Amino acid sequence: MISFEIKKQVVLIYLWLWWITSTNICVNATNDSLKPGDTLNSKSKLCSKQGKFCLQFSNNSIGSDFPCLFISVNVDYGTVVWMYDINHSIDFNTSVLLLDYSGVLKIESQNRKLPIIIYSSPQPTNNTMATILDTGNFVLQQLHPNGTKSILWQSFDYPTDVLIPMMKLGVNRKTGHKWSLVSDKFNLEWGPKEGELNIKKSGKVYWKSGKLKSNGLFENIPANVQNRYQYIIVSNKDEDSFTFEVKDGKFAQWELISKGRLVGDDGYIANADMCYGYSDGGCQKWEDIPTCREPGEVFQKKAGTPNVDNATTFEQDVTYSYSDCKIRCWRNCNCSAFQEYYDNGTGCVFHSWNSTQYVQVVADTFYNLVKPTKSAPNSHGT
Ligand SMILES: *[C@@H]1O[C@H](CO)[C@@H](O)[C@H](O)[C@H]1NC(C)=O
Ligand SMILES: *[C@@H]1O[C@H](CO)[C@@H](O)[C@H](O)[C@H]1NC(C)=O
Ligand SMILES: *[C@@H]1O[C@H](CO)[C@@H](O)[C@H](O)[C@H]1NC(C)=O
Ligand SMILES: *[C@@H]1O[C@H](CO)[C@@H](O)[C@H](O)[C@H]1NC(C)=O
Ligand SMILES: *[C@@H]1O[C@H](CO)[C@@H](O)[C@H](O)[C@H]1NC(C)=O
Ligand SMILES: *[C@@H]1O[C@H](CO)[C@@H](O)[C@H](O)[C@H]1NC(C)=O
Ligand SMILES: *[C@@H]1O[C@H](CO)[C@@H](O)[C@H](O)[C@H]1NC(C)=O
Ligand SMILES: *[C@@H]1O[C@H](CO)[C@@H](O)[C@H](O)[C@H]1NC(C)=O
Ligand SMILES: *[C@@H]1O[C@H](CO)[C@@H](O)[C@H](O)[C@H]1NC(C)=O
Ligand SMILES: *[C@@H]1O[C@H](CO)[C@@H](O)[C@H](O)[C@H]1NC(C)=O
Repeated sequence: MISFEIKKQVVLIYLWLWWITSTNICVNATNDSLKPGDTLNSKSKLCSKQGKFCLQFSNNSIGSDFPCLFISVNVDYGTVVWMYDINHSIDFNTSVLLLDYSGVLKIESQNRKLPIIIYSSPQPTNNTMATILDTGNFVLQQLHPNGTKSILWQSFDYPTDVLIPMMKLGVNRKTGHKWSLVSDKFNLEWGPKEGELNIKKSGKVYWKSGKLKSNGLFENIPANVQNRYQYIIVSNKDEDSFTFEVKDGKFAQWELISKGRLVGDDGYIANADMCYGYSDGGCQKWEDIPTCREPGEVFQKKAGTPNVDNATTFEQDVTYSYSDCKIRCWRNCNCSAFQEYYDNGTGCVFHSWNSTQYVQVVADTFYNLVKPTKSAPNSHGT
């Protein structure tokens, strides 16, 4: 009787273990890799082993101009961490990502005669595998007969405007390949010599993070927005790089937005759009203060719109944005305030001191230059 009970229990435990392992197998049996000959079409997706990230085709709804291949965090409307190829238009319905038998990774679609080649190895290789990893990196590897693997291509080498844990900024010293974020005219780069992050606009340094202090924080980044990160800086013969990890192990991302701001999970890490050539807070000085300006003078955001009079000037160029208007107003001694010309934030209107004396109260904002007072608030970083 007792032994029968025990047998029954053992059988039940076996059944239970079988159920657990078999259901686990089902959960784990995600397709995270393409082998030679495998394809990924626009109706399927490739997800990492633990399902953290997925690679799929976008139907034009993720902020790119064209349908493209992208990697996102695997939840509905998950953060897009990588996109390819935003320069070429593909037809979403017929798009296929293909790893062929000679080691070429490419996108084919009905509207294109020639495929978009993501990677083509110098010598044809048959034993390759393309895998989406739980870090969000999509890697094409060569499997050698001796059991080792080498990376032929990886998405982490081609960041877009987002930096995620383990993705690097800096330079690969072996290949000379540089890792940086790009957003419109802005770049986020790692300067290994000074050991500082910097944001450039059209090649000119607007903002620098300052040095990494002994408390593990960068000088010019507010402590409350960088407390959760552990920075990893590598400098050796192979690479000079910067990356971060999140102390609590959760996912985090830094996004460089087209205005020139670097946005982290807890707020703005850098506001390069606030920089106009003379002040601090990470902003770089690139010219002397115009004679008509005083140190400490700052632009303050105000409600309303100043009168337009015969001294008001307009810049209708749509490539001008907030920071361009600010620099131009600062340099022009006739300018006392500025605002956007178009509703979408482009173009500039420059106002004289006189016209700021007649502010109409409308649902609008402008930026007014104010003289320093003893407790002058610094507009930077706000
Ligand atoms: C993985 O993908 C391959 C090729 O697309 C397919 O043949 C296979 O059935 C898939 N396996 C699973 C477990 O989905
Ligand atoms: C993709 O977008 C196009 C155009 O917006 C739409 O016609 C089509 O139904 C969409 N396809 C899917 C699978 O969502
Ligand atoms: C897209 O075009 C830009 C500018 O020509 C180039 O720098 C970039 O490498 C291209 N991206 C891809 C994925 O080909
Ligand atoms: C793509 O496929 C969707 C759904 O099958 C269809 O509604 C749509 O018209 C197709 N778009 C094109 C451009 O063929
Ligand atoms: C690739 O390798 C497999 C296995 O060794 C072989 O069966 C196949 O013919 C090879 N294909 C090509 C195109 O070389
Ligand atoms: C394995 O083979 C590859 C390619 O032939 C070679 O580069 C690598 O050094 C080998 N690794 C070991 C540990 O033998
Ligand atoms: C000052 O502004 C007012 C209102 O915009 C305008 O009527 C006046 O002509 C301006 N004065 C000068 C000297 O520009
Ligand atoms: C603008 O008009 C005022 C008043 O008519 C005049 O005094 C001033 O010189 C004018 N300014 C310019 C820049 O033409
Ligand atoms: C400033 O205003 C004066 C007088 O209206 C004008 O002559 C001068 O060209 C203006 N300067 C700039 C830089 O616009
Ligand atoms: C902003 O608006 C202007 C005028 O409507 C337009 O020409 C320009 O392309 C727009 N720029 C952006 C970035 O949307």
